[in-house]
Amino acid sequence: MEQTLSIIKPDGVKKQIIGDVIRRFENRGLSVKAMRMLQMTKEDAMGFYAVHKERPFFDSLTDFMCSGPVVVMVLEGEKAIALNREIMGATNFKEADEGTIRKDFASSIESNVVHGSDAPETAKTEIAYFFSSLDIMA
Ligand code: PPS
Repeated sequence: MEQTLSIIKPDGVKKQIIGDVIRRFENRGLSVKAMRMLQMTKEDAMGFYAVHKERPFFDSLTDFMCSGPVVVMVLEGEKAIALNREIMGATNFKEADEGTIRKDFASSIESNVVHGSDAPETAKTEIAYFFSSLDIMA
C-alpha cells in the first residue's frame, strides 16, 4: 500500500466537480484517508511549489493556487502515486488520455483541476505539508 497527496485545485472547486473527481479515485480503488478544504496564502503556495521557484510560471502558478479554496486529500492504494497520475492525465490537458480528469475537465496547463505527488519522497513531504499523522486514518 502506498499513499499520495491529491489536491483539487481552485478551478476544480469552482466548477463544482469535487464529487466527480473523488468518484474517479474511488472507482479505481484509491481510498481517501484524510481530507480538508482550505485556502492557501501566497506563502503557502510558494512553499508547496518551492521546487518550481526558478520556473517562469512560478508566480502565476502560485497566484492561481491561492485564488480560491482547494481540497487536499491523502489517497491510499496499491501503487497509489502512479495510479493517481494515470487517473489525472498529463499535466498539459491537450496531451491527456481520453477518460482522464484533465482531459475531461481542465481548461489550460494552469487550470488543470488536480495535483498529484510524483514520487514516494515527494508524496511524504507533500502529505506532511498539509496533514499531521493524527489526521490520517489507519
Ligand atoms: S510535472 O507534472 O510536475 O512534471 O509538471 P511540470 O510541467 O513540471 O509542471 C509543474 C506544475 O506547474 C504547472 N505548470 C504551469 N502552471 C502555469 N503555467 C504554465 N505554463 C505551467 N506549466 C506547468 C503544472 O500544472 C504543474 O502543477 P502540479 O500542481 O504540480 O500538477
